[in-house]
Amino acid sequence: MTDAQSTELMPDASVADPYGSLDPATLRHVDSLKWTVYGEGIIPLWVADMDYPVAPPIVAALQDRLGRGLGYHQLLGDPTLGGQLRDHLATQGLTDLPAEGISFLPGVVPGIYAAVKALTEPGEPVVTMTPVYHPFHLSITDQGRRVAAAPLREGERRWEIDWEALEAATEGSRLLLLCHPHNPTGRVWDEGELARLRDLVLARDLWVMSDELHADLRYTGRAFEAFAADPQVRAKTITLTGPCKAYNTAGLGIGAMVGHDPELVQRVKKAAGGLMGHPSALSVTMWQAALREGGPWLEGMVAYLRGNRDVLQAFVETQLPWVRSFPVEATYLAWLDLRSHPRAGDIQKFLLEEARIAVHDGPVFAPEELKPQYQGFIRVNFATSRALLIEALERMAEALGREEVVQS
Ligand SMILES: Cc1ncc(COP(=O)(O)O)c(C=O)c1O
Repeated sequence: MTDAQSTELMPDASVADPYGSLDPATLRHVDSLKWTVYGEGIIPLWVADMDYPVAPPIVAALQDRLGRGLGYHQLLGDPTLGGQLRDHLATQGLTDLPAEGISFLPGVVPGIYAAVKALTEPGEPVVTMTPVYHPFHLSITDQGRRVAAAPLREGERRWEIDWEALEAATEGSRLLLLCHPHNPTGRVWDEGELARLRDLVLARDLWVMSDELHADLRYTGRAFEAFAADPQVRAKTITLTGPCKAYNTAGLGIGAMVGHDPELVQRVKKAAGGLMGHPSALSVTMWQAALREGGPWLEGMVAYLRGNRDVLQAFVETQLPWVRSFPVEATYLAWLDLRSHPRAGDIQKFLLEEARIAVHDGPVFAPEELKPQYQGFIRVNFATSRALLIEALERMAEALGREEVVQS
């Protein structure tokens, strides 16, 4: 790509990039998983962490908390965070959530595992739509259940639910693990899809675990509609949420499991027994600050990420037209189909060695038997500075361009 072309990809080169000073030498700190798994010189675009500093109101709240000691937090009956969360979730359609319908977790993933354990028996099929964030299928197989997979299908402009596959997968199952917004395709299931999903769930009398962790990172311009926004499905739905994607605070570990039936919430919680643990005092302070004062920062962040998303999509369309990619509606993760490339069979390794970028390999997002179907796909985390993103994309295009692509 010429310099002129890369400048065109910057939405407005005259506006200073607020994250333009992000420096790999500083980011590659021993504290960072993302930056230390791969060696010097590699641009890491894999694990879902953003490269940006934490929102200033959160830093201030944490500093204040440190000045007051770190004893057990008033967690179980914490009126502040519980109330804030109920107000926030009400804006997404989870209205009338009872106070006892909230249970805090040390992270969202333990909630996924607990839902599978509580609501199914070993050997049973558990439904999920693939590709999917790997703890979804791992929570099923690690606990001796079977994945009843409903692969998504490629539509004209977006990844879509394959209703036939989903209907077949739900037959004989009792639990659906839903990812909404969906990692790794970036879909936000729309009103029509949610309505049809609810009909199916009611017809099959399924439990639903809806992981809505990415709900606040949307580019749709529409309010987010939670799966359990419809009262008809509330009695059988557990929703998981947390601040770690929107506010980039995964290292503090906290999440929540919420449901309109407090008994269901308790049943899922109890399934983990004493193994669940509890969130740290600092994570509670962080989430309170995020909900109280983080809004303007988040708004700026979503605008910045939308810019990166557009840069990535424009780059792929102009420089790598044989790569299949749809602009994501949420998350900072892009799902790219590179199956036409001669090195599709070891694409992650090829990009690591030849382009010096680290991406997530497609098969990660599928259970064992479906992994071959996703070979040649990659997930790209675009939450870095625009300059680093463009550098990574240029390296990728240059390396891929060394071999001729034969399009089918
Ligand atoms: C859909 C989804 N759920 C859960 C998680 C992880 O949540 P936690 O770190 O709170 O366990 C991620 C992380 O990327 C995710 O994408």
